[in-house]
Amino acid sequence: MRKHIFNAGPCKLPEQALENTATAVKELGNAGQSIMEVSHRSKDFQAVIDEAKQLFVDLLNIHENYEVLFLGGGASTQFAMIPFNFLKTKAAYVDTGTWSSKAIKEAKLFGEVEVIASSKDKDFSYYPKFEIPSDVDYVHITSNNTIRGTEIFEDLDSPVPLIADMSSDMMSRPLDVSKYAMIYGGAQKNVGPAGVTFVIIRKDMLDKVADRVIPSMMKYETHIDKESMYNTPPAMNIFVMKEVLKWVKEQGGVKEMDRRAQERADLLYGEIDRNPMFKGTVIDK
Ligand SMILES: Cc1ncc(COP(=O)(O)O)c(C=O)c1O
Repeated sequence: MRKHIFNAGPCKLPEQALENTATAVKELGNAGQSIMEVSHRSKDFQAVIDEAKQLFVDLLNIHENYEVLFLGGGASTQFAMIPFNFLKTKAAYVDTGTWSSKAIKEAKLFGEVEVIASSKDKDFSYYPKFEIPSDVDYVHITSNNTIRGTEIFEDLDSPVPLIADMSSDMMSRPLDVSKYAMIYGGAQKNVGPAGVTFVIIRKDMLDKVADRVIPSMMKYETHIDKESMYNTPPAMNIFVMKEVLKWVKEQGGVKEMDRRAQERADLLYGEIDRNPMFKGTVIDK
C-alpha cells in the first residue's frame, strides 16, 4: 500500500507519473537509452524539456515576455541568486517564517534589506499585511509558508518587481503570472521530485542586473541564453516533472487543483477547527 505522508516535505506523486517514469528509466521512447543515460543534447531529451516548458506555459497562461527555466540547486540557491543578480542598493522582504528568513539572510550579503512586514511576533502564525515601497530594487514574498501553513492567495499589484517563492503552492491555484517579475520554487512539493528548480522570469529583469561580477552559473542571463542547458540539466527530474504536469493538465489544470485543494482543506482543517482535541496553529489577523 502506498502511504500518504502529511509532513511538509517531498510530495506524493501521481501513480501515472511514476509508471511512465519507470518505463522511461528502462527506455525513453524509442531512444534505445534510459532517461538517465540520454544526452541532454539529443532530440529525445529536447522533446522532454520542450514539453515540460510548454506545460508550464499552458497551465499558467504564461506570456511570451517570460522565460521558463529549469535549474539545479533547489529553491535555496535562488535565495542567493536573486540578490546576486538584482539587489543594487535595497530590496524589500516580507518575513513569514523559515524560508523567507533564509532568503533574507542571503540578500543581506549583497545589499540593504528592508523587512517591510513580519509575523515573527506571533511565531509566524499569520500572514502580515504590508505596503510595497517604490524605492527598492524588488520585493520578495514567500507565497506559501510550508512549515507554518500561512499563505497569500492574492496576486499583488506592485510598483517594483515582485518576486515570489512558490515552492509549495505552485500549480495549486490559477495564477496571474503577469503580476510577477519572477516566480521560483523547488519542484518537490507540488510538481515533481527534488533536484529541479523552476524559475519563471520576465525577460526585462535582465535589464535590471546589478553592476557586479556574477559567476556564469549564478547568472540568469546564462541560463536564459542557453535555454536551461548551459550545464547538464537534471534530465530525470525534468522528465518526472513533465509527467506530473501532464497529469495536472489531464485532471483539469490548476482550476481543478484549486478545487481539490479547497476540498481537502475543508475536510482536514474543518475538523481541526471543530474538534476540541486539536488546536490549529494559524490565526487570522
Ligand atoms: C517555501 C519554500 N521555499 C524554499 C524551500 C527550499 O527548497 P529547496 O530544498 O529546494 O532548496 C522550501 C522547502 O524545501 C520551501 O518550502
